[in-house]
Amino acid sequence: MNILEVRNLSVVLKAGKQKKTLVDDVSFQVAPGECVGVLGESGSGKSMTSKAVLGLLDRNFKVSGQAVFEGQDLLKKGREEMRRIRGRRIAMVLQNPMTCFDPLYRVGNQMGETFKTHTDLSSAQIRDALLAVLEKMRIREPAEALEKYPHQLSGGMLQRIMIGLAMALKPALLIADEPTTAIDSITQYEILEEFWRIKSEHNTAMLFITHDLGAASRVADRLVVMNQGRIVDEGDFGHIINEAKDPYTRLLVEKRIAVMDQYRRRVRGGNA
Ligand SMILES: Nc1ncnc2c1ncn2[C@@H]1O[C@H](COP(=O)(O)OP(=O)(O)O)[C@@H](O)[C@H]1O
Ligand SMILES: [Mg+2]
Repeated sequence: MNILEVRNLSVVLKAGKQKKTLVDDVSFQVAPGECVGVLGESGSGKSMTSKAVLGLLDRNFKVSGQAVFEGQDLLKKGREEMRRIRGRRIAMVLQNPMTCFDPLYRVGNQMGETFKTHTDLSSAQIRDALLAVLEKMRIREPAEALEKYPHQLSGGMLQRIMIGLAMALKPALLIADEPTTAIDSITQYEILEEFWRIKSEHNTAMLFITHDLGAASRVADRLVVMNQGRIVDEGDFGHIINEAKDPYTRLLVEKRIAVMDQYRRRVRGGNA
């Protein structure tokens, strides 16, 4: 059985008398322990797809189709129930960790709120749980980190904390939307390792959304390629690189190969 089955999902934006289709008849599945990469350029409808599944779109957007999670259609659920499912059964990690933290409150207090909302743990137990999250995410001096304000930690550290927090409640599904886009390339590498670790240690199902074929290739078992709100290709990395027929997918692949060639030339010390 699949953890998530998205069937014929469409999102239409109603603006006055005009209608614009942002997600067009999208279907895909995520199996337990599987990481599905959703690949596509900016504006292709990746975030809209995940927001629709998570019930995060307001009334201006008309969502149709089904998003069956653990046997139940999320698109039929009310706001309150979705709030409970998000965070507990489905965790999210977003692009910019800075926007997920309130600059005015200490990191530890904000992390604690998540546990207060979703568990019955006492304050002392929550503190232990927070320290465990930070240690697991290899944050040095975790007790000190809890006392810091967001701006006192690096973007990479905050992103690691977000991932640790997302995983702390042992979700069945983790949705990561461009989790490495806002951070430098060395930290990106560490964050991708973290996702890899989660996948191998916890067998968590994942939806890994990215515009970067390189990042997707590190963690995804299978790729779904989106263009202009539609799925245009689907398959494992080898298929996408070697056999993809869709011209848009080929373009993404060739761009990526060009970047890798450039990198190789630089490593060899040539100027060409
Ligand atoms: N809040 C919004 N209101 C209206 N249109 C939006 C909004 N957010 C995104 N869009 C449009 O929806 C389409 C898909 O966007 P999005 O899902 O954010 O793309 P991606 O995540 O792949 O970069 C784009 O054409 C974008 O302009
Ligand atoms: Mg997006």
